[in-house]
Amino acid sequence: MKTPSYSGSDLEPDVDPASAARRLPRHIAIIMDGNGRWAKARGQARVQGHRRGVEAARTATSLCGDAGIPYLTLFAFSSENWKRPDEEVRFLTQLLALSLEKELDRLHANGVKLNVIGELGSFGGKIERTIQKAQEKTAGNGAMTLTIALNYGSRRELATAARNLAQSCIEGRLRPEEIDESRLDRSLSTYGLPDPDLLIRTGGEVRLSNFLLWQLAYTELVFSDALWPDFDKAIFDQAISTYQGRQRRFGHTGEQIVSQT
Ligand code: IPE
Ligand code: IPE
Ligand code: MG
Repeated sequence: MKTPSYSGSDLEPDVDPASAARRLPRHIAIIMDGNGRWAKARGQARVQGHRRGVEAARTATSLCGDAGIPYLTLFAFSSENWKRPDEEVRFLTQLLALSLEKELDRLHANGVKLNVIGELGSFGGKIERTIQKAQEKTAGNGAMTLTIALNYGSRRELATAARNLAQSCIEGRLRPEEIDESRLDRSLSTYGLPDPDLLIRTGGEVRLSNFLLWQLAYTELVFSDALWPDFDKAIFDQAISTYQGRQRRFGHTGEQIVSQT
């Protein structure tokens, strides 16, 4: 397969619509929703749904790896999820850290570079150190970049970027007229990742819930009623095929065929 080259700003008219239809997304972002309802439907505690949710995240990672999709970003815990009962928050954060530790060797062996975005300071030193070590260990890997959004909120990310840019201006390192889309983009925690081509949200809700608001500007959105712990190859393949059936226009007219990747 031809190596995808789309970076969000270097749009090339597509010369071969048939191959465009078969093209895979280069970056998939997933809002993994529905763990609590999955557990409730089985008469189990919500946290059991989160346990199974980790397994589904592993499935999603291997499906992307097998398909040769180089970027996967998973929304694991939002800055608003602190509003949940203390017990669930504690369970979730411990589960995420433990899973990371448990999966690390396998991820590393498969050439996965681990990248965590979000405000990690609130999780306490031990979890932060686990994440730091995992990122350092896998930093040189190139097969796939797995980004986990943990205590992540897009509005906060944008506010932080604005604050940092303002500080640079005050310190004379930047002039306000130099602040443009590219400069703001480079101030975000996703700097270095291409914008997602495909967003999948499971769980039936049709909203973004404060996830990657800037980065998803031209992403194809696919919503599935499946609950996250049930995520499997069939749901993945269906999302890819929906993506491949879309025509991405990026503001062009429908007559101009634009590269998907
Ligand atoms: C997604 O599942 C996991 C997190 C948000 C951490 P939920 O816990 O939101 O499950 P539902 O949406 O209540 O079913
Ligand atoms: C979004 O799910 C956050 C994650 C999947 C981590 P939520 O369950 O928190 O979203 P809302 O509250 O239904 O919008
Ligand atoms: Mg939910």
